[in-house]
Amino acid sequence: MGRGAADRAAARRFVPAAVAGDGAFLDVGCANGCLMECLERWGAQDGLRLEVHGLEIIGELAALARRRLPRLADRIWEGNALTWVPPRRFDVVRVGLEYVPGRRRADLVRHLLGAAVAPGGRLVIGPYTEETGAAATEDALVEWGFTVAGRASAGHRDPRVERRIVWVEGPASQDRP
Ligand SMILES: C[S@@+](CC[C@H](N)C(=O)[O-])C[C@H]1O[C@@H](n2cnc3c(N)ncnc32)[C@H](O)[C@@H]1O
Repeated sequence: MGRGAADRAAARRFVPAAVAGDGAFLDVGCANGCLMECLERWGAQDGLRLEVHGLEIIGELAALARRRLPRLADRIWEGNALTWVPPRRFDVVRVGLEYVPGRRRADLVRHLLGAAVAPGGRLVIGPYTEETGAAATEDALVEWGFTVAGRASAGHRDPRVERRIVWVEGPASQDRP
């Protein structure tokens, strides 16, 4: 991993703060699988066993991730998060709202909660960088009718902004079929 990639990975080190326990983690927009690899390692450091999975809209990137991580190849799918029908559910699904146009963001959250998040699981949004003292992403989620169940943040070298994640709970465990 080059210096830039290592810095980008370090900026995501707080993502496991959104993980409540062992389980299946889907990285939506997994690119070359770098975050998947990091999450396995960070999970182990934090005492969590994460079975990582990835979804990527660009077929060439999904293929690259499979080549880089052959042992995870059958857990890396190609598809558009907005319409993808997952073959299973995941305890944690991570996504960036910026992956779809503004007018489709609520649909993206609704789709992943309805189709991809397991009962008792959560949809994690981010990391994203936002003005310190404001909460534009949380405000938007609330406006769309979702309840933010938790959040975590990490400092940025510029104090005017923060790196953040927020999460929304999936279907309640008692809804489990
Ligand atoms: C910035 S990279 C994130 C890589 C990795 N998850 C990480 O955090 O290091 C975002 C990736 O999301 C993918 N992507 C964008 N829109 C998507 C969509 N609608 N469905 C699936 N993947 C998407 C892009 O092709 C890109 O590879």
